[in-house]
Parts: sequence; C-alpha cells; structure tokens
Amino acid sequence: MAIQESDLMQKIVSLSKRRGFVFQSSEIYGGLKSAYDYGPLGVELKRNLMAEWWRAMVHEREDVVGLDASIIMHPDVWKASGHLAGFSDPLVDCRNCKERFRADKAPKVEAGTDIDYLEGGKKGGKKLKAKAERSYVCPQCGSPDLSPERQFNLMFRSNIGPVDVLGRITEVVERERNLTGADLRAKIEEVVKESAVYLRPETAQAMFVQFLNVQQTMSMKVPFGIAQMGKSFRNEVTVEHFIFRSCEFEQMEMEYFCEPGTQGQWLDYWVEQRMAWWRAFANNKDKFRTRAHEKAELAHYADRCYDIEYDYPWGWGELEGVASRTDYDLKKHSESSGTKLSYFDQNKNDPATGKPGYRYTPYVIEPAAGATRGLLVYLIDAYHEEAVPDAKGEDATRVTLRLHPRLAPIKVAVLPLVKKDGMPEAARKVVDTFFKAGINVRYDEQHAIGKRYRRHDEAGTPYCLTIDGQTLTDGTVTIRDRDTMKQERIAADRALEVVQERLRKI
Ligand code: GAP
Repeated sequence: MAIQESDLMQKIVSLSKRRGFVFQSSEIYGGLKSAYDYGPLGVELKRNLMAEWWRAMVHEREDVVGLDASIIMHPDVWKASGHLAGFSDPLVDCRNCKERFRADKAPKVEAGTDIDYLEGGKKGGKKLKAKAERSYVCPQCGSPDLSPERQFNLMFRSNIGPVDVLGRITEVVERERNLTGADLRAKIEEVVKESAVYLRPETAQAMFVQFLNVQQTMSMKVPFGIAQMGKSFRNEVTVEHFIFRSCEFEQMEMEYFCEPGTQGQWLDYWVEQRMAWWRAFANNKDKFRTRAHEKAELAHYADRCYDIEYDYPWGWGELEGVASRTDYDLKKHSESSGTKLSYFDQNKNDPATGKPGYRYTPYVIEPAAGATRGLLVYLIDAYHEEAVPDAKGEDATRVTLRLHPRLAPIKVAVLPLVKKDGMPEAARKVVDTFFKAGINVRYDEQHAIGKRYRRHDEAGTPYCLTIDGQTLTDGTVTIRDRDTMKQERIAADRALEVVQERLRKI
C-alpha cells in the first residue's frame, strides 16, 4: 500500500510510542525538546544495530580493535581539535516573529529582492514589504528583517570539581567595576573556563588521543583501526525530524590509520564497505546512495569526503560520513600535548632518505555513522502497510515492521492458543529453551491470537510459535513468518534449532 510521504513520519512516531520503541523524554513534565528515550523495544533495536556494527567493524576483522573512552575529556583535547574555536553554527534572530534559527538552513532568496511577510508572523497581521539584505529569510514567517549572524558553539559546557562558578563570577563583577560589555564578558569567560569541561561532540577524538596506547598494547601494525561507539552531545540550534537530529545521540565511529599516500585507496574501500553494510539490513536498497563532498564543503581537516545518504521522507540526507582526515588530528594532538603520535615501520625505507626504517604520522580514514539516526532509517525502511481482511472478514490494514531478523527487538514470540488445557505450560517449556540459548523471546497469552499476531507484526517480531491442541497430542507447533504470514508445523523440540537456522541464514 503506497503511503503518503508526509504521513509516513507521523505513522512512525505514533508506532514508536504505541509499541515502546521511542518515547519523548520526561513526557509527564511536558517533554524536553529534542531528547528521546528508547523504550523496551527501542533499546533492543538500538543494541542489535550497534552490536552488528561492532561485529562487522571489530570482531570480524584482524586490523581493528575497540575502545570505550570517557565522555568528558581534558579540555585541551577540544582546543587542539579545533572544536572550541570552530565547532559552531551561525545563529540568527528574526526581528519580526522572534524565531531563532540557523542561517545555513534557512530558506534561500535572492539578496536585493522585495519580500512580502506578515507583521509578527501572524495570520491577519499587517502586510509588510522589505528588501532582502541577505540571501535567506526567516524559516518561520519569511521575514528578511533579521539580526546579525552570531557563531554559537555546539558543545555542552559544564564545570568539573567543587567550584562555585557563580561565586567566582560575582567576585569578578564586583572587582572589575570599571569594565563593561565585551571586556567584562571576556573576564567572566576566563573564570568560567578555569574549570570548564565539555561533553564530547563526537566519539572520534579519544581514538586519536589514545593512538599510541592502543597501537603499542595491541602491537597493531599500520594499516589498522580503532573503533568506538557511544553517546555524543551537541547543543543543536535546529532539532528536527524526530530522532534524526537531537542534542544527545549515539555514534559509531572508526579511525583507520594508514600510510601517507594510501589514503585514497582506503577511502574508496571504506565507502564501499560501509555502503554494503547499511544495505545488507535494508529492504529498499536503492534508498541509499553516496555523495562526494564538493571542495568548498570539505571540513578543514579533510582532503576528500563522502556522505552515505538515505532517502528520508523529507528528501536525501546524511546517514554516515566517510572522511579522509589526513594527518591533521594526530599532528595537532602531538603539537598540543608534546607527545609524538607517530608510527615507525622498520620494514620500510624512509622515502626521503632511502635509509632503512620509516617514521611517519599516519593518515586517517574515518567512517562516522549515527546509531540513533541509523535506527530511524531502519524504522522508515521497515514500515509496511497492506490490506488484509480481519477476523470478521472485513477490510483492515495490517501494519508490519519488516525489520531484518537480526535487528528485530524480539526474535520469537511463543503464543498458547488459549490460556488453558495445558497450552501455557507447553508454551513455557518452549520459551525456556530460547532463554537458555540467549535468544530474545516473549511469552504472550493476552488477547485473541489474531490480535497477538498483529501486535508482533507491528513490533517487527519475525517468528511466532503457536502452541495449540495438536501440540498436546503430537508435540508439534506452528511457526508463522511475519512477512508472508505463512505457517508451517514443526516439532516443538526442534523450534529453537529452526529459528537459529533461519537467523543464521540471513
Ligand atoms: N567525527 C566526525 C563526525 O562526528 P558528523 O558528520 O558530524 O561527523 C557523524 O557526525 C554522524 O553522526 C552523522 O552522519 C549522523 O549520522 C550522526 N549525527 C551527527 N549529529 C547528530 C545529531 N545531532 N543527532 C543525531 N545524529 C547525529
């Protein structure tokens, strides 16, 4: 059944809440903008997705090892990486409707043209006309009457240790009575920064900072990678599209260290690997594409970069970036910390001198993916509606989450047909075999069987095992496939093996 693109997100948000995938954070207090909680099914889906990434990037490779670093790092890390000075968005206030927005995301117009808009941005307000001074207008009311752009740093700042920051600011204000405006602000900034720490805005930096420890303890030979997944935080000016862009999110990043001059071939290799990985778990493989960054778009540290994009209901957008980061980060951290972050290859000659032994600062390829964004992509990819008659033979819509079985939160539901005649007991025996094998199983006896199937279709459960009258006489159960709704009879004591076999095959 074709679903209107504009309806799709609404349906996904509503299913996410109804089935326990994603809840608004602190909902009973009115919610917190751009913060989300992953419910009982959401946490399973997210863990499965991240476990698959770890498996492909670390466990199935000899050249990549893992790391789990602190979220709060030494503040000098962010000075050296450039985040303190440059990790910011251009922020603008609309003088007409008071909206605050990102200049680079605002609707484009031709500078110098006449723009019509409404006073206060409200319907029925006075019609106004003004010349657009810049090449964009307010996204809320279309007004060209805007404040100057200010750079807004996206890092969340806090203070570490038992420091009374307000007390220190008060002291400064009282002491520096002759200072005002920017000068006073600079003095206050100085005392705030004495104890300032930042929540990491990317997981990447710890992998540069721990380069030597990891390389030496694991005797890694270049080329090799360090992988990390976990929370990152950005005080985003524009939060949008449900969990697509939020202030707290999870990343899955890997820094792949290679010899200078080989970065081009490794970039191509990782773009291909990452694309194949995303597609392997998707139903609609043509909804993923790669896009090379234009020169002007490249981050200051990159010599080339590709985005892996997904065709979201609102259009193509980023899912993962694969960047060739040169030797920028290792060099910056070497200079800033005084610890030389380099690699010595005793089997190679130095290309400059021709002498045996080659010491160099490795170049880096970085596949940087969003785990929470990936979860949204797979929810969109899996959402499916079809017309199927209900138990009374009337037209009804069956909603299915066609999640890849390895990502599905619940792998198998065990359903006694009725809550009597020994069926619950027989069902619990089957459930036990799955518990022991570590496969996420749900015992479910609430409501009529048709309703239970629909519930598990919406939860994305790939297999339902039904215990019925025949089970008690011949020891067989039915196994129902979520997508085809086909049922087969199999021996109850083979149910675990059959499900394991199907999960392995995919
Ligand atoms: N270390 C490089 C880096 O962090 P990025 O493109 O800023 O690169 C990588 O982030 C990925 O992290 C993005 O492709 C996206 O999937 C995810 N991501 C970034 N900001 C996000 C946000 N505010 N909310 C959700 N996911 C985000």
